[in-house]
Amino acid sequence: MDRPRILSGIQPTGEMHLGNYLGALRLWVDAQYDALPHYCVVDLHSLTVQIDSKHLSKRTLDAVAMLLAIGLDPQHCTIFVQSHVPEHTSLTWILECVATMGELGRMTQFKDKGSSQESVSAGLFTYPVLMAADILLYDANKVPIGDDQRQHLELARRIAGRFNSRFGETFVMPEALVPPVAARVMDLQNPGSKMSKSSESSLGTVFLLDPADVVVSKVKKAVTDSDGTVHYDPENKPGISNLLEILSAITSERPDQLALKYSSYGALKTDVAGAVTDILRPIAERYKELSNEDAYVREVIRNGAMRAREVASVTLARATEAIGLLEPPAVASE
Ligand code: TRP
Repeated sequence: MDRPRILSGIQPTGEMHLGNYLGALRLWVDAQYDALPHYCVVDLHSLTVQIDSKHLSKRTLDAVAMLLAIGLDPQHCTIFVQSHVPEHTSLTWILECVATMGELGRMTQFKDKGSSQESVSAGLFTYPVLMAADILLYDANKVPIGDDQRQHLELARRIAGRFNSRFGETFVMPEALVPPVAARVMDLQNPGSKMSKSSESSLGTVFLLDPADVVVSKVKKAVTDSDGTVHYDPENKPGISNLLEILSAITSERPDQLALKYSSYGALKTDVAGAVTDILRPIAERYKELSNEDAYVREVIRNGAMRAREVASVTLARATEAIGLLEPPAVASE
């Protein structure tokens, strides 16, 4: 069987956390050996909300270093920065003329993010089309994503299908790849919402670079309930169930099975804290080493851009031809 073609993306906005890792990034690492993966730091997507022009380039470098630190190996996958591959914006325009205002207006992420801002950029509205371009340019058939991105992937499929039926088979139909458990790690302080870098209390989010003592104290302070017995019941015991799911994602044991082992919240928290610090330790060590290897990180980015462009330019040419644009004249190489 052909190796699956994978594409996924992460925004370079601030620190990565346990939710990013257990929800999606861990899958990126696992997938690199039996698939052909392209992993993209989506700096253009990060322009759709408040633009932090002072820190963006540094954050992009840090994000690439972090991807290397969690175990991505440039021998096995292509890591690149979205804005270095101009085919993404070219294809986005074409797809914007295929997508409709109606379908973009139905995106819940746009409704959520848009409603909290006084002035909403057009980019925030067309964000999912850029994401569709990311995916379709690499003929990706598998897309590792968190639960919250499913609707965007569904839209990418609709756009691809519509393009193919109007202009001829051009794009591969992508499918979501969601990890079986812990696709949604919840906030430790507010287990009703997803763990996020921008939550109200920083106690609710475990960052991948948090020192061990900070991780332990965040887990110990995680909100539970007054029932006192450990069992898996996301509806009525969201805090405890979240801890069980985190442990389950790390140990691969079912959360309801894990629950049987514990007679107190304290013991569960101790084991969760231990399991989390164990997986974070090597990541922090590697990240620290990479902070002295700037030339290496930049080399990874340069090679990634070259490799990504080779693939993306072929797909873009297929799309421009299908839609009837005049073939561009040959120009002297850059
Ligand atoms: N929108 C995704 C997120 O916020 C990031 C992203 C951009 C992405 N392009 C992508 C994810 C392509 C998967 C595939 O998490």
